[in-house]
Amino acid sequence: MAGTPVQVGIIGCGAISGAYLGMANTLEAIDIVACADLMPERACTKAEEFSVPIACTVDELLANPDIEIVLNLTIPRAHADVALAAIAAGKHVYNEKPLTVTREEGRRVLEAAQARGVLVGSAPDTFLGAGLQTCRTLIDDGVIGQPIGCTAFMLGHGHEGWHPDPEFYYQKGGGPMFDMGPYYLTALTFLMGPTRRVTGANAVTFSERTIGSEKKRGQIIPVEVPTHVVGVMEFASGAIGSIITSFDVWASQWRNIEIYGTLGTMIVPDPNGGAGPVQIRLAGETEWREAPLTHHYAGQTRSLGAADMACALREGRPHRASGEMAYHVLDIMHAFHDAAREGTHITLESTCAQPDPLLPGATL
Ligand SMILES: NC(=O)c1ccc[n+]([C@@H]2O[C@H](COP(=O)([O-])OP(=O)(O)OC[C@H]3O[C@@H](n4cnc5c(N)ncnc54)[C@H](O)[C@@H]3O)[C@@H](O)[C@H]2O)c1
Repeated sequence: MAGTPVQVGIIGCGAISGAYLGMANTLEAIDIVACADLMPERACTKAEEFSVPIACTVDELLANPDIEIVLNLTIPRAHADVALAAIAAGKHVYNEKPLTVTREEGRRVLEAAQARGVLVGSAPDTFLGAGLQTCRTLIDDGVIGQPIGCTAFMLGHGHEGWHPDPEFYYQKGGGPMFDMGPYYLTALTFLMGPTRRVTGANAVTFSERTIGSEKKRGQIIPVEVPTHVVGVMEFASGAIGSIITSFDVWASQWRNIEIYGTLGTMIVPDPNGGAGPVQIRLAGETEWREAPLTHHYAGQTRSLGAADMACALREGRPHRASGEMAYHVLDIMHAFHDAAREGTHITLESTCAQPDPLLPGATL
């Protein structure tokens, strides 16, 4: 992007903020100039660690006229209120995932932004990394033919073993689908397009979790949300996908994502990371072969979505990690849970544009 970087302020200086700050320091499009948190010492610590000039309160950050984009890295249940406050202050806002906890909150955020003339972006931006960009290029080039289906698996045993404050993973707005589904569903939306109809099934296998990380070791978390969540997606293209996200599984050998085309199959790299390998096996072939990565950002991606939003602002084009796509993903995740509860299929009310791929070799 030509010109001066867009100034960005971070609200929420917890576990994930370091990944954003570290990556942002390598990008030309944005400058993180201020950090704020409900816990002031967290803002001070991050500001010091990453040479951010200002550590301040949330109100001070929102009143700073130089800041154009607010990176909202608070916990999910604070996403809507912090985003609405940023929008009311005339800032563009980029939320961590999920966009918000409820669909109603998500709609309020998008409507408020539209009324105020500001943009909403949302994590994940891992689809801007080299692996998923390469996959999309191969699909667009017709290498595996017409995609007819896909499978996605995120199978693990939860975060209470390592996260210092893991309670939110088991409270409303948490669970494996709301935690990890955004990576998988955003990747699938980027690769396959929007979803038309879904159904689902789910379970709470363990009614409580015991924290294993140091500060709170031994404390019990009651589980308020399904922790084994299965969904079936019918894409607008006619392709069919299935996804399992689980915090109840001790071990698995399934690949993160596979895409099945009329000419062959593609193994998609972990959508919670920017790197390959991308593997292809076409009809008649007996071995998988690795496709070379065609794009930049094979490692960390966090901050790329905000940087793309900054470029989009300056260039007057749509940003890729959009609030519209994040709302569609939120709608899909809720619809899986609603369909499971009601024992039905749900035709989605939301849709979104499939984001354009980056040009091979493009940087932000
Ligand atoms: N930890 C991870 O590995 C990870 C990875 C990807 C995405 N995320 C997402 O990032 C977000 C944050 O996760 P985290 O792990 O960093 O959580 P965290 O609890 O470590 O940090 C959240 C921070 O936000 C602050 N905060 C909460 N409400 C606030 C408010 N209203 N105003 C100002 N500050 C507020 C808290 O004080 C805390 O410092 C979540 O949405 C999560 O889904 C986390």
